[in-house]
Order: sequence, then structure tokens, then C-alpha cells
Amino acid sequence: MIKKGIILSGGLGTRMSPLTKAVNKQLLPIYDKPLIYYPLSIFLLAKIKNILIIVNKGQVDQYRKILPDGKRLGINIEFMEQSTPKGLPDAFILGKDFIGKDNVALILGDNFFYGQNLTKTLINNCKLKKGAKILLHKVSKPDLYGVAKIDKKNNVKKIIEKPKNYLSDLAVTGLYFFDNNVVKYARQLKPSKRGEIEITDLLNIYRSKGFLKADFIGRGGAWLDTGSIEDFYKTSAFVSAIENRQGFKIACIEEIALNNRWINKNDIRKAIKFYGNCIYSKYLSKLIN
Ligand code: TTP
Repeated sequence: MIKKGIILSGGLGTRMSPLTKAVNKQLLPIYDKPLIYYPLSIFLLAKIKNILIIVNKGQVDQYRKILPDGKRLGINIEFMEQSTPKGLPDAFILGKDFIGKDNVALILGDNFFYGQNLTKTLINNCKLKKGAKILLHKVSKPDLYGVAKIDKKNNVKKIIEKPKNYLSDLAVTGLYFFDNNVVKYARQLKPSKRGEIEITDLLNIYRSKGFLKADFIGRGGAWLDTGSIEDFYKTSAFVSAIENRQGFKIACIEEIALNNRWINKNDIRKAIKFYGNCIYSKYLSKLIN
């Protein structure tokens, strides 16, 4: 069972400069809420109550200001600083004490997931006992992503980062499920040519042992990686279209916590106070009236 999750929420956000010169990417808005709310909501949907958020050096205070205290969501949120972006598997080196002897999920702070059956998929993957699992999503331009080839039983046979020759059209998304060996394996990694330890190398350790499985965000689901300004804009437009047409919010963290019965109406009233007079608060008050 996976009951702990790490959100990797640092990074330089180079592709989005100058927007990211003073403010971390995950604190910028996707339509009506900061980007960090979206990966956080994924963990809440997965019923993960123990969450470590890794942020850039000196930025913990900004995150504390923008996010409600974990207690107000009925969960535990811890923060840790990463001195420089050393690569995605650094999450497990930094997070060693947080992870302890448990299995753990990792989500990239700039990844957006939405869709039918998502909660079911998340809860299913959190049942992982041994090995690792990745979530794949079909894309039209596989050469831009890390791509996986799988067999009929969904065992991952090959992963290549930005393949020049066609391998498959299944991109590796930024949500991963690992057994506790991940702490040990992450420490074995050597930096690549670009000077970072690479998630592909980490996944390949599991693959070489025959312990890497795949699951899917199906056709009814969306996965968007909000790394560029264009992607940011497209994701905002997507959220706005869904929210305005259907009248509910995507990634309202208090709503998910309420549905999980981790908090009650009184906590929602406190949240309304925290946010002040805004559309988000109006939505929260509709939930309890
Ligand atoms: P990237 O997209 O690789 O990096 P970035 O967000 O800094 O963007 P850019 O390439 O434009 O400079 O990172 C994916 C996510 O992981 C993103 O949310 C930042 C986060 N991250 C860390 O927190 N620490 C790290 O060491 C790395 C490599 C990424």
C-alpha cells in the first residue's frame, strides 16, 4: 500500500522565464488556482495523507502562504528544500527520512491530470507492494517525451527519453509509484551528460529486474505537462472550459478532503476565512449550504 507521496515542486522553470524569475512555476496560476493545487489534489484523490513537498531553497514561506495548513485538509504536509535542481530522483535522496520503510508515490509539481476513472486508477496503483509502476498516456508527438514500450501484460520493456526513432506513442507521465527500494536505487544513480540524475535511469533499474509495470490514463482522461508558457495557457483554457460548463471545480482541495471525510463543514468555514472574499470561497460555501 502507498500512503506517502512526494510532490517535486522546485526547478528553475527556465522555459517560462521571465515569469519564473521571481516566482516558482508551481505558484503561478492555472486558471483560478496555483498550479501546486493540481498535483496536490491528485494525492488527495489517491487517499494519500502524508505528503512531502520539495521546493527551491528559500521558498518554503511562499508555499506556506499560498497553501492551507495540512491540518485544515485533514492531512500532513511537510516541506523540504532542494538546494539546486539535481534531477527528479533526488526526491528520494532528500525524502529518505520522510519515506522511512514505506512505499511512496512521486508526482511532478507541474503535471496536470484529469478525467474519467482517474480516482479508481490512482487508488488501484496505490495498492502496489513490490516494484514500480508508471502511468502512460497516448500522445501524438512521442519524440517530445520519455516513451515506453510495453508487452501484453503491461510489463515495461523499454523506456527512451525523447526517442529519435519511433518506439511507441505512450508517453511516461509525471506520476510514479515505487516500492521502498527506490531510496537505495536513487543513490546508485550517476549524473547524466546534462549533469542531473535521471528518472529514466531509475526506472530502468526496475525494468532490468523485471519489476516495472505500466498503467494508463485512458482516452477519457487528460494529461498535460505545463512546462512551457504555451502549455500553461492551454491547461488554463482546459480548466476554464470544464469548470464554467459544468459548474464544479477541478482540484478544489477542500472539496476532496470533505468528500474523503477528512474534514467537516466547520473546516470549510475556516477555509473560506483563509481565502477571503473570492470566487473560490463562494464555491466552498456552496458546498456546505
Ligand atoms: P523540469 O520540467 O525538468 O524543470 P523545470 O520545471 O525547472 O523547467 P525548465 O526545464 O523550464 O527549467 O521539471 C519537472 C518538474 O520537477 C518541475 O515541476 C520542477 C521539478 N523539479 C524539481 O523540483 N527538482 C529538480 O531537481 C528537477 C529536475 C525538477
